Amino acid sequence: MSKIGIVTPGGDAPGMNACIRAVVRTAILEGFDVFGIMRGWKGLIENEIIKLTSRDMSGIINKGGTILKSQRFPEFKDRKIRETAIKNLINRGIENLIIIGGEGSLNAGLRISRESDINVIGIPASIDNDVYGTEETIGFDTAVNTAVDAIDKIRDTATSHERIFIIEVMGRKHGFIALEVGIASGAEIVLIPEIPFNLKKVINVLKKGIEKGKKSYIIVMAEGVGSSYTIGEKISRLLPHSEVRVTVLGYIQRGGKPTYFSRKLASIFGFNAVKLIASNKSKNKMITWNRGEIMIKDLSVVEKEKRIDFEFEEIIEILSS
Ligand code: F6P
Repeated sequence: MSKIGIVTPGGDAPGMNACIRAVVRTAILEGFDVFGIMRGWKGLIENEIIKLTSRDMSGIINKGGTILKSQRFPEFKDRKIRETAIKNLINRGIENLIIIGGEGSLNAGLRISRESDINVIGIPASIDNDVYGTEETIGFDTAVNTAVDAIDKIRDTATSHERIFIIEVMGRKHGFIALEVGIASGAEIVLIPEIPFNLKKVINVLKKGIEKGKKSYIIVMAEGVGSSYTIGEKISRLLPHSEVRVTVLGYIQRGGKPTYFSRKLASIFGFNAVKLIASNKSKNKMITWNRGEIMIKDLSVVEKEKRIDFEFEEIIEILSS
């Protein structure tokens, strides 16, 4: 019987469990044996591999995190370490590997596909949405909704106390979360790593608003820009009559119940990944979501860097004027 291995390396993202469930249940009906690799690449190196059944998938569709667990494992960049991983898969007879993960994990999968005969299928999952070739990754929608909800709450204090709030969101070296959150929370300013930070410009926007009678501000800042506390201090120094506060949203963006869309995307990604393997037509692909549809692309697209939509910046500027 053909075997499929499934792994969730890197950062967990809400919806990963819905995806694992879809993979396992579809695969079993298609006649595969499915094996869960625990703790990401580390578990693969340490042979921590367990057989999964349909019943193991009960009650997980609405749970955040990953039942397969995860660990950061930078050692996996080393080819020798990957050789052990490949050997462990071959010894178990696992000739198909489904990776549910972000840009780093999918690139590691691409290497495995080039260094072995294992058929690697990528499913993009990351709150950062920074995977090239797909408009959306599993977990992004949940993270954005969580951040927007938190900002709505912070806005109450910003308005009542007439303060400037800097709210730091995640996103690693990209501003996808920040832009989406900025537009949906009505932020006056969005700072992203793709645009060099310009203190003068920020102060000008704030001063112009103050002249027009604006009393409170929401600045959404992506973590990749730098320290929100340092930027807060700089703004405070240049606008001594304003009260500046900083909130780092942190890991609340990564956890929690996946939204309807994260679950839907996860379920159809997982289903399509297995159907692709079962069709036996092509190897080493990535399941993507573009213009409301599933598209199958070569896994090698993950080597490219995803770019942000600069149109969003203009929309934010105009809508917050
Ligand atoms: O990739 C998801 C993410 O949450 C990023 O937004 C953040 O920079 C990073 O992971 C945090 O990583 P760690 O899990 O190592 O703390």
